[in-house]
Amino acid sequence: EKGMYPHYMMKEIDEQPGVIRRIVQKYQDETGAFTIAEDLQAAVINADRLYIVACGTSYHAGLIGRKLIEEKAGIPVEVVVASEFGYDMPLLSEKPAFLFISQSGETADSRQVLVKVKALGHAAITLTNVPGSTLSREADYTLLLHAGPEIAVASTKAYTAQVAVLSILAETLGKAQDIVQVHDMAHELGIVANAMQTIIDEKEQIQQMVLDYVATTRNAFFLGRGVDYFVSLEAALKLKEISYIQAEGFSSGELKHGTIALIEDNTPVIALVTQPHTQLQIRSNCSEVQSRGAKVAIVVTEELAQTGDTFVIPNTALELTPLVSVVFTQLFAYYAALSRGCDVDKPRNLAKSVTVE
Ligand code: F6R
Repeated sequence: EKGMYPHYMMKEIDEQPGVIRRIVQKYQDETGAFTIAEDLQAAVINADRLYIVACGTSYHAGLIGRKLIEEKAGIPVEVVVASEFGYDMPLLSEKPAFLFISQSGETADSRQVLVKVKALGHAAITLTNVPGSTLSREADYTLLLHAGPEIAVASTKAYTAQVAVLSILAETLGKAQDIVQVHDMAHELGIVANAMQTIIDEKEQIQQMVLDYVATTRNAFFLGRGVDYFVSLEAALKLKEISYIQAEGFSSGELKHGTIALIEDNTPVIALVTQPHTQLQIRSNCSEVQSRGAKVAIVVTEELAQTGDTFVIPNTALELTPLVSVVFTQLFAYYAALSRGCDVDKPRNLAKSVTVE
């Protein structure tokens, strides 16, 4: 039940700090170390490449997962869109393993890939919120999200739960191979939960930003590089699916190769800046669009914030910033939909679980 909340989406956004803390607990053993079934770990470590297969928001979580697993566990990862991959399969590596990410565990596009790779004899893992779901039953191994039921059509807590479990998987696979870990992931995820709460507590400021930036706009752009680019894809999907504003996520460096032609006076451009090694480049991309009339908002971590930036998010481990910046974008989409009188929890043309290909 949504209880005191006006919408399930707001309830589910609000639940996220608690979900992250619960996931940490669920995956910890008595000593506080993360544990994942050894045969599941072996399936990934013995593979020469991990293919992450998913759709929509779960695909966007997979993009962050790739970064985490490559960085922490040194395993090459490819992330693919299920509806494309199943029918246009690239040349696979010699010994692939597959990780299906699906909140519902019922998505037909993902399932048709699972059926195909099982027939080829490859190992398959499903990361899902629903124990006993089709994708969970048909895979060799299951990792659970422990996010609790997600009712709103627009996915929020499932995305952050997916990224959190992927970070735990990445650390566990790294440790299993004696790769030195820079951070203690359990500790860092605790910091993330607090940082998410800080943003949720500042939601009125985000509501005001919505009025300032997208009150009457037809379109909006989200920019980033690296993980910030991946979050900008998710930010755009969320904004378009519930507010019907045409939104796109771009790698900020690609803008000048074509898309910048769309920038007009007052086009809203929201830049996510959380990574020190690309902040100068993205700031310069922002100046380029600003000088062409764009109304730029810079959403930035405390560490990188400069005078005049629009919204500051707390610092966390650099590879976990997506868990925090995405909360800003969820609230942004929520208030945009609300201000336009849209049905936040049940956007038009969409169903919670997509069981057709
Ligand atoms: C967007 C959204 C969808 C789902 C996608 C995959 O907010 O919810 O893009 O992420 O349909 O669904 P699952 O994860 O259930 O396979």
